[in-house]
Amino acid sequence: SISIGVLTSGGDAQGMNAAVRAVVRSALNLGVAVHAIFEGYQGMVDGGDRIRSLSWDDVGSILHRGGTIIGTARCPVFREREGRLAAARNLLRHGIDRLVVIGGDGSLTGANLFRQEWASLVAELVERGDIDELTAQRHSALMITGLVGSIDNDMVGTDMTIGADSALHRIVEAIDAITSTAASHQRTFVVEVMGRHCGYLALMSAIAGGADYVLIPESPPSENWEQEMCDLLRNGRAAGRRDSIVVVAEGACDNAGGPISSDRVRQVLQDRLGEDTRVTILGHVQRGGTPSAFDRCMSTLVGHAAVQELLSATPTSEPQMVGMRYNRVRQAPLMQCVEQTHAVARKIAEHDYAKAMELRGSSFTE
Ligand code: F6P
Repeated sequence: SISIGVLTSGGDAQGMNAAVRAVVRSALNLGVAVHAIFEGYQGMVDGGDRIRSLSWDDVGSILHRGGTIIGTARCPVFREREGRLAAARNLLRHGIDRLVVIGGDGSLTGANLFRQEWASLVAELVERGDIDELTAQRHSALMITGLVGSIDNDMVGTDMTIGADSALHRIVEAIDAITSTAASHQRTFVVEVMGRHCGYLALMSAIAGGADYVLIPESPPSENWEQEMCDLLRNGRAAGRRDSIVVVAEGACDNAGGPISSDRVRQVLQDRLGEDTRVTILGHVQRGGTPSAFDRCMSTLVGHAAVQELLSATPTSEPQMVGMRYNRVRQAPLMQCVEQTHAVARKIAEHDYAKAMELRGSSFTE
């Protein structure tokens, strides 16, 4: 009998619960047992009651909840072979050799490494007498399917990641709120949003919130940006605009690759415009709270598709990531997507923005 495991790993994202629910119920519907691994890879390494089978009702009333009810963690022990050995032992105790991993690029890379090492881990467990030959033969391969949970929307191969839409809604609500107080005082605000290597949240919220200026890592401003930004804002005021908003992505850089912090932007505005300027760093508010309708729907669809993909996987097939492409649920080769995502970050660091954008648009599906 097949038993699959599901875990959420890395930073949480709204919609992870909807994905977990879809995985559990899709599996049960197909007569497949499903275990939740609590606290991400840490729970896999720890075992015990951190790996528990879930029933239909266990995932009731979680669709609309933010965060992840099965917990998540960033887990350094899983980076060590010893940690992965313990994890393999704990999975085999429950007969699990198929995993749906919901996380960002780091979590998915970890899953792939684990998969590649699986045979040697199993052999070592037999040698140590931790498992018998029959168990080893029955579970000679680990199969994985990835779902991308990250508010950053930074993964190549999917148009949207789980949580990005909810985070964007949260940011736009915040910008709307700031706009009204900014307008009352004719003040300038700098709003810093998340997105480590990806300006998606900053750019989209700047458009949706009607901001004056935006700074993102993928498209650094011209050398003269400080002057340009101040001129724009000054002209806006002169034309009667009462609120001025500048959105800064946390990973924003100038064209020499130096970081542009929200405080630097504030200082520039204050010095050159002589205006009362305030900074709002939205922080983890962006990652919390209820998922948007889009995130609930998308996570449900990709969660369901992930189970189908995982059940049709074979020990030799390439692991897949399930995401969205052109408004359709699509799968793409997991490791190519992860590697390409890293290549995008490298190209940004090398200031080759055109190449970075070309790579980000790569499609591994038709
Ligand atoms: O990757 C998601 C993200 O929210 C980034 O935008 C941010 O830089 C980072 O996680 C913050 O991580 P932590 O969970 O360590 O606060």
